[in-house]
Amino acid sequence: MANNVFGIDLGTNNIKIYSRNDDGIMVEKNMIAIENKNTLFAYGDSAFEMYEKAPSNIHISYPLSNGVIADIQNMETLIKFFIGDLQKGNSKPCDFYVAVPTDVTEVEKRAFYDLIKDANVKAKKIMVVEKAVADGLGMDIDVKNSQGVLVVNVGYETTEISILSLGGIVLSRLIKEGGMKFDDAIRGAVRREFGLIIGGKTAETVKISLRELEEDNCSAIVYGRDIVTGLPVEREIPTQLVVDALEEHFNTIIDNVKVILERTPPELAADIYRHGVYLTGGASQVSHLAERLATGTGLKVNLAENPLTSVAMGLAKIIKDENYKTVAYAIEGMSK
Ligand SMILES: Nc1ncnc2c1ncn2[C@@H]1O[C@H](COP(=O)(O)OP(=O)(O)OP(=O)(O)O)[C@@H](O)[C@H]1O
Ligand SMILES: [Mg+2]
Repeated sequence: MANNVFGIDLGTNNIKIYSRNDDGIMVEKNMIAIENKNTLFAYGDSAFEMYEKAPSNIHISYPLSNGVIADIQNMETLIKFFIGDLQKGNSKPCDFYVAVPTDVTEVEKRAFYDLIKDANVKAKKIMVVEKAVADGLGMDIDVKNSQGVLVVNVGYETTEISILSLGGIVLSRLIKEGGMKFDDAIRGAVRREFGLIIGGKTAETVKISLRELEEDNCSAIVYGRDIVTGLPVEREIPTQLVVDALEEHFNTIIDNVKVILERTPPELAADIYRHGVYLTGGASQVSHLAERLATGTGLKVNLAENPLTSVAMGLAKIIKDENYKTVAYAIEGMSK
């Protein structure tokens, strides 16, 4: 099979691209920095480096919002540059497999297809794969033969909860929960309790290091700006404050998983009960979420080995193995 094939998982925080040529997955921030309204200044991880620190003539943004494409032009630019980087300047016609969320409108789904078509990347063939199906394959689940698999992907702006059966989606719900809300909750709690304003990156660092801090019985040391004096200060934040701030968001996820379970046809429930929940997505790694999900639903929770890249790993399987090709489809009327 041709080597110029890419599998793309566009996340609101990270873009993951599997390249058949390298047989590897590139992970970069899905972010763009534009100077003076029209000049590309930086993209990916280097744009993120400048985020919250750049002067006002440099505008840094995420082109995706709530899992769908909000800023088409900048998203096209990013795709063009990332694919260009992966092709190392030697641009050839190539095939694309793009993962799309299920619980969005047809127009929003089609936008993922149009994006690749219009990004100037010499697309020969563009196939679409439901994200949760790719997730399942990426977690080594036999999605084509299983009758009832519950996949929960906790990302940045979104959490996607899906029931798969025989290679397709039975139910799926996309909710506005994830790592960004976790960070905001931490910022809010620190502001309320300590009168301290901290940046998004600081909150994210606290969230990611929470488990380790708890294990070591340590507080989080953060730097921010005191609300009253306006001066930069250092504070010790107890881990319990962070755990309490996250609780509400864990509950929203658990409640939505329960709603999906209530709507699941009873014949599929047996398999789900047997296998448990498959939990993935970058933010699924936050301390306590997996245990809370297990107690909240009464189901066993299986953790993804590679939560950030499980969708892209599933796309890689589809690209490499003819057996899985049937789960990908063309958007009608547009494919060659
Ligand atoms: N070890 C970790 N512990 C907790 N959270 C983490 C960890 N590593 C990454 N995250 C969080 O995971 C999130 C990014 O995950 P991911 O790349 O799956 O999201 P995304 O695919 O870009 O978003 P979405 O699926 O909502 O569009 C960020 O909020 C990040 O802070
Ligand atoms: Mg994602």
